[in-house]
Amino acid sequence: MPLRNNERLIDQLTEQDVLSYRAWLQYCPVKDEEYKQQIEAVLSVVTVKETSIIIDAALSELSLGLKEMCAFQPAITTQSNQNGLHITIEDTQGKETFHITYDKSQLYLSAGDDRGVLYGVYHLLRQIQLKTPLEQFGVKEAPKNPMRMINQWDDMNGEVERGYAGKSFFYDQYQFIKDRTRVKDYARLLSSTGINAISINNVNVHENETDLIFDRYLADVKQTADIFSMYGIDLYLSINYAAPMEKGLTTADPLDEDVKAFWKDRAKVIYDNMPHFGGFLVKADSENRPGPFTYGRNHAEGANMLAEALAPYGGKVIWRCFVYNCKQDWRDRQTDRARAAYDHFLPLDGEFLDNVILQIKNGPMDFQVREPVSPLIGGLEKTNYLLEFQIAQEYLGQQKHLVYLVPQWKEVLNFDTYQKGEDTRVKDLVSGKVLNQKHSGIVSVSNVGIDVNWTGHLMAQLNLYGYGRMIWNPDLSAEAIALEWIKQTFGHDEALVQTLLNIVIPSWETYENYTSPLGIGWMVNISHHYGPNIDGYEYDNWGTYHFADRDGVGVDRTKETGSGYSTQYHKENFECYNDVTTCPDELLLFFHHVPYTHKLHSGKTVIQHIYDTHFKGVEEVEEMIARFTTLRTLIDDARFESVMERLNHQLYMAKEWRDIVNTYFYRKSGIDDIHGRKIYA
Ligand code: GCU
Repeated sequence: MPLRNNERLIDQLTEQDVLSYRAWLQYCPVKDEEYKQQIEAVLSVVTVKETSIIIDAALSELSLGLKEMCAFQPAITTQSNQNGLHITIEDTQGKETFHITYDKSQLYLSAGDDRGVLYGVYHLLRQIQLKTPLEQFGVKEAPKNPMRMINQWDDMNGEVERGYAGKSFFYDQYQFIKDRTRVKDYARLLSSTGINAISINNVNVHENETDLIFDRYLADVKQTADIFSMYGIDLYLSINYAAPMEKGLTTADPLDEDVKAFWKDRAKVIYDNMPHFGGFLVKADSENRPGPFTYGRNHAEGANMLAEALAPYGGKVIWRCFVYNCKQDWRDRQTDRARAAYDHFLPLDGEFLDNVILQIKNGPMDFQVREPVSPLIGGLEKTNYLLEFQIAQEYLGQQKHLVYLVPQWKEVLNFDTYQKGEDTRVKDLVSGKVLNQKHSGIVSVSNVGIDVNWTGHLMAQLNLYGYGRMIWNPDLSAEAIALEWIKQTFGHDEALVQTLLNIVIPSWETYENYTSPLGIGWMVNISHHYGPNIDGYEYDNWGTYHFADRDGVGVDRTKETGSGYSTQYHKENFECYNDVTTCPDELLLFFHHVPYTHKLHSGKTVIQHIYDTHFKGVEEVEEMIARFTTLRTLIDDARFESVMERLNHQLYMAKEWRDIVNTYFYRKSGIDDIHGRKIYA
């Protein structure tokens, strides 16, 4: 049942579309007259001495927001004797920070730099949207993560790899789309949540796309970079490691002098055009992408060569660790894709130049509904790195299913790696707090496309918003973030807010309930990764990845009898995962092969857990729909109907998952459901 995509260009939007398009920057008129007057009293005059393109963008956003919400536009002045909002930049404050105080009917916004001003202005606008009393506007904020990045997987032919919200709004048929309104509005949305870097093309760089770093497209790239830099966002490009060969060289060997000269020349041309260019993002030796392995070089040699080319300009090389060129074979249980990133990159710790940043997926596999945290995080000591999430719901319902991802991401960020003893959490490693890396932070694959609501499923806007807010401050709760988003997107009606909160908070667990249980992962079709296919995802056509047979299920990754993946963790986690009696239920089948009758900590057998959660998952989706139905009169028709359509599809798919998973395991195990439910369709 394919759901339609609602692709429309900006000038074709209807009045109803606009509500979907504005996402969380609705700027709805404030109805409370008294509040409106208070806001006008402190914001009708804005004093600011400094100027920059970012401050200009901040001021025009402030004007737009106030005009829409409070029907006035602030006068901007440099005279400091005025009442109102006083914006200053204090170099002594950290970069990107802001400090707001409210005192005797005056508002003061002092920021560490112009990005701090922008974030401070978005903070003020958010508070007005949230109807926060003026006395509570005061705040001191500093982002926890220095790099807060988004990766677009947009191809220049106009498609988006693993994109579930229609085509690209950057490119169409190998041209940049001329109307940049959409790109600018995207930059506004991103910067309102604190994003400060973006790569604008797919990590799989196809042949003609190397021209992005050549004359053919450089002017377009620059124009795009200029739009993003108004909003404090640095632009990066993904590059093809073998680009020199596309342009006539016979090799891409990182130690070859001509290859080095090629990249140095490109860096010079790019930075002559765009001094604010961020750098390159590289997927090498992964999924058929070329890389240094072809020349017998390792990844440090590969990355450092590019880093040397970019270093004179302050450019960075972001180098992905999604490298797993091993063949899984059911006859050989030692070879394990989960081990690959750590096995490749840990031995290189300390060998990368300081403008190289590794990019590490949150788990050792590929953005599954449940995975342990990648042991590279907690392993590397002397290397810059970014943690990579995926906002696009590749394995999580592809934005046809409602799944709120912040609870999942927060589990990752709060995971204790024990790298420096107890309480060495992922969030403190990736923020640079523990290891003091020169560059660090978080990056994620985006979930947007040209759909009027940006994300296909309107509720998936929450994941884009939540990602930015969470990486700005990983201590914000998933609930607090959802509350902010709901109120800004749909308004403040109490029943509506509570109902939507009750829908989104448990939704990740619900998805896990009706899909892949206990950390097995996959169970999807290998090409498009959607819908249940238990044996659909195979490694190298040699048997299944879950090792289900008549006696048991799960992958043995223990030290003694399995692949030894568990040894990649520090002692505390190794012992916990390696021992079947202490391994957490939700990851049991990731680490152990057990009989169907194995008892979980919950007291249930594995097979009964599978049956129960799959029935429960479907009931939970029914409950979601029942809840959402009560909002009929509280949400405008277009947004209500678009969400409802997807919820109904989700229910249909949840049933399919339930029936296929339960039937499969019933057939394998031959064990009946103790409740006597019909599981064998
Ligand atoms: C997954 C995804 C690919 C993507 C790859 C990556 O394998 O299915 O489409 O290219 O991840 O992260 O590079």
